Amino acid sequence: MLLVATAATATACTGVQGTPGAAGLRDPYFPWLGNGGYDVRHYRLALDYDPRTGRLEGTAEITARATQDLSAFHLDLRGMTVESTTVDGAEAAANRAGTELTVRPRRDIDKGARFRTVIRYSGLPQTVTDADGSKEGWLRAPDGDALAVGEPLGSTTWFPGNHHPADKAAYDITVTVPDGHAAVSNGEPAGERARGGRTAFAWRSAEPMASYLVTLAVGEFRTATTRTAAGLSVVTAVDPAVAKESSRLLGEIPRIVEWGTERFGPYPFSSAGAIVVPAGEVGYALETQTRPVFPLDRFDETTLVHEVAHQWFGNSVTPASWRDIWLSEGFATYAEWMWRQESGGFPVHKSFREAFADEENWEFAPAAPPNAEHLFEAPVYGRGAMVLHKVRLAVGDEVFFAIVRGWAAKYRHANASTGDFTAYVEEKSGQDLAALWAVWLYGARKPPLP
Ligand code: ARG
Ligand code: ZN
Repeated sequence: MLLVATAATATACTGVQGTPGAAGLRDPYFPWLGNGGYDVRHYRLALDYDPRTGRLEGTAEITARATQDLSAFHLDLRGMTVESTTVDGAEAAANRAGTELTVRPRRDIDKGARFRTVIRYSGLPQTVTDADGSKEGWLRAPDGDALAVGEPLGSTTWFPGNHHPADKAAYDITVTVPDGHAAVSNGEPAGERARGGRTAFAWRSAEPMASYLVTLAVGEFRTATTRTAAGLSVVTAVDPAVAKESSRLLGEIPRIVEWGTERFGPYPFSSAGAIVVPAGEVGYALETQTRPVFPLDRFDETTLVHEVAHQWFGNSVTPASWRDIWLSEGFATYAEWMWRQESGGFPVHKSFREAFADEENWEFAPAAPPNAEHLFEAPVYGRGAMVLHKVRLAVGDEVFFAIVRGWAAKYRHANASTGDFTAYVEEKSGQDLAALWAVWLYGARKPPLP
C-alpha cells in the first residue's frame, strides 16, 4: 500500500497550493501506469452487469491517503463513460485523456489527509490485446458470460484506480447479475441479496491486493466451499460445462495449499480456491488473488501448483515494478520443480538441466526483459527458477529454505524489487554472490553447464 510519489509539475501559482499528482509511476515497461501523490487504502466497487447487452454500470468508491499536497490527481481508466465524480462528497471536475482520468477537487487535499473519491461510470468494457498477443481485461463469451483478468494492466478496463502493482489495497466488490447467473471474485463471500429478478453477490478482500490480481467472473457457476485441515476456507467456482472434468483436481487444492504452507510459511490470505472456465475464453491460467483462474485446457496439477505458489510469491510479495516479474514467475516455476520431485520423484536438478538445455530460456536475462512483449516469456520463468536453484547450490539447503520462508515473511503483503532480493539473500547467507547475479540474473549469455 506504500507508494512512492514521483515529482509532479508545479502549477504556476502562488503560496502553498498543492500540485497535481503524477500521471504515472514511471514503470520501466508501462510509464503511465499507476499515479503519483496518493496511496489507495480501499476500493469499494458496486457493479451491475447485463450479460445480454454486455453493459457494465459501476460505482467506484476509492479511499486514499495523499502523499503530497494535491491540487488534482489521476486515476487510470481505459474506455467506459464517466458520469460523475466527487471528492469527499463534493462534485469534482473530471477530465479524460487516453487512459488517464484527472480529478480536480474543489479544494486542495493536504499531504497526509485521507480522502474519498466516488466515480460513477458505465459502458462496454474493453478487451485488451497485449504486446505479446494475449488477451486480457474484460473477456466476454458469446453467451454473455464475462471474465475479468488483468495482468499486467487489464484491470484498467473495468474500474478506475491506481493500477500499478506498487499500490496495493483492500477491496469490497459487489456485482449484481440477472437470476441464473453468479458473480465470483477474490476473497471471501460477503453476502448475496436477490431482488426483482437480480442477485447481488458481495466479495471481500481484506488483505492488500494489486489491481492486476483482481478478478471477476460472471456465469452459471457452481460454487463450493471446503476447508483445509488447518481450517482455511477454499472457495471454488466452476462453469457447469467443465464441472465433471475439473472435479478431481479441484479436490486437490487443500492438499496443495498445505504443501505450500509447509514449504513457504503461513498462507498469506483468508481464503484459497479457483475459478475454472471452458477453454478458449482465456489462453492462460492466472494467479488472481485467492482465486486463480484456469481455462480447462490449463487446469492440470503442475499449473495448479504454480498458481497456488503465486499466492506467496507475486500476490503477497508483489513485484515493485514489472521489471521484477521474474521474482513471481521464478518462484512459481521453482515450486513446480519442487512439487515434481516430492510428488513424482523427478529431481529438481533434472528440472534445472532441462531448463538449462532449453534455448528459449537464454533469449534474455530474467531481470531485464527487453520490452513489454517479453514480460511473460521463457527466461522470466525457467531462468528465474534457475537463479533460485543456483542460490540453493551456493548457500545449501538449510539456508536456502530459511531464505525462501524469510523472504515471504519479510515482504508479506508488500512489494519487493530484484535489488531487495539479492540484498536479502546476501544478508541471510553472509555470502557475496555478485558473480552469481552477474551470470544468472543479469547475464545475456549462456554460461557452460555447471
Ligand atoms: N502470470 C501468469 C502465470 O504465469 C501468466 C499470465 C500471462 N499473461 C499475459 N498477459 N501474457 O500463471
Ligand atoms: Zn506464473
